[in-house]
Amino acid sequence: MKPTTMLQEMEGPARKLATPSAPHLRVISVTSGKGGVGKSNVVANLGLALAHQGLKVLLIDADLGLANLDIILGLNPKFTIHDVLQLRKTLPEVLVEGPGGMKILPASSGIPELSELDEYQKMFLLNELDNYSESVDMVLIDTGAGISRNVLFFNIAAQERLVVANNEPTSITDAYALIKVLATQHNERRFKLLVNGLSQPREAEAVYRTLLKVSERFLGRDISLEYLGFIPHDESIPKSVLKQQPVLTLYPKSRASRSFVQIAQQLWDTPAPEEVDGNIKFFWRRLLQYQI
Ligand SMILES: Nc1ncnc2c1ncn2[C@@H]1O[C@H](COP(=O)(O)OP(=O)(O)OP(=O)(O)O)[C@@H](O)[C@H]1O
Ligand SMILES: [Mg+2]
Repeated sequence: MKPTTMLQEMEGPARKLATPSAPHLRVISVTSGKGGVGKSNVVANLGLALAHQGLKVLLIDADLGLANLDIILGLNPKFTIHDVLQLRKTLPEVLVEGPGGMKILPASSGIPELSELDEYQKMFLLNELDNYSESVDMVLIDTGAGISRNVLFFNIAAQERLVVANNEPTSITDAYALIKVLATQHNERRFKLLVNGLSQPREAEAVYRTLLKVSERFLGRDISLEYLGFIPHDESIPKSVLKQQPVLTLYPKSRASRSFVQIAQQLWDTPAPEEVDGNIKFFWRRLLQYQI
């Protein structure tokens, strides 16, 4: 389906893109080197655009010590991932329902020990998610910024990595640093880029070209950086953040919302990589099933 069709459909009744039992599970981390480039808004709104199309969406707030996603979505979770790790609650008990029927796994705020999960906690979390029996079509992980161990872990555990950047030199440099660590230390070779907060397509494409050039030059030509597009600078986004609702809910016709819908469609239309590589993955059992 073409993006324009999806835009039209957005205004009409929601349509199903995929049946829940279809082998469509995608696990995508949304990540950045530099903080504040728009990851949480991207996760909330891309997730919602996909949920509007009938997909079962799970959002994971993986900025574990500094939860943001619940605030952006105006949720008030009673329990968080911390309760799961402390064995006080099971994972399904902690999930909250958000706009469009999305499920959200909330993080905690101000719990420093969560800022670096130990090996046991990582394995436990992967298993809990794997056992989460409800069918999920799309998992989006808001990783938090930087190259901390948690950020790297969630990026490695995801099936695909979506890097968010703007045109500030610091954002581009830090995006490269993140790609470099994931490529050289964890053998991740495939990345997608979403540029956020610019006005013109050519400005966004320039960010892509710069990042592609430097990645290919220093990390080799087998690095794949796919340009997913850009979300324009749009004051509807900070306005929506203040009202703790996704821009797609509050201002569905805004430039930003239209871009989120298009990007969501493009993301879904681009098939996930076929191979399950050697790294540990969320929902690995389901992912493996699809390879057979
Ligand atoms: N396209 C945009 N146009 C205008 N403002 C934007 C846009 N995208 C994000 N913002 C604003 O930028 C700020 C940061 O956004 P957000 O919290 O999504 O970033 P983040 O990458 O998740 O940050 P952190 O690294 O701290 O988690 C917010 O105030 C938001 O309103
Ligand atoms: Mg954030």
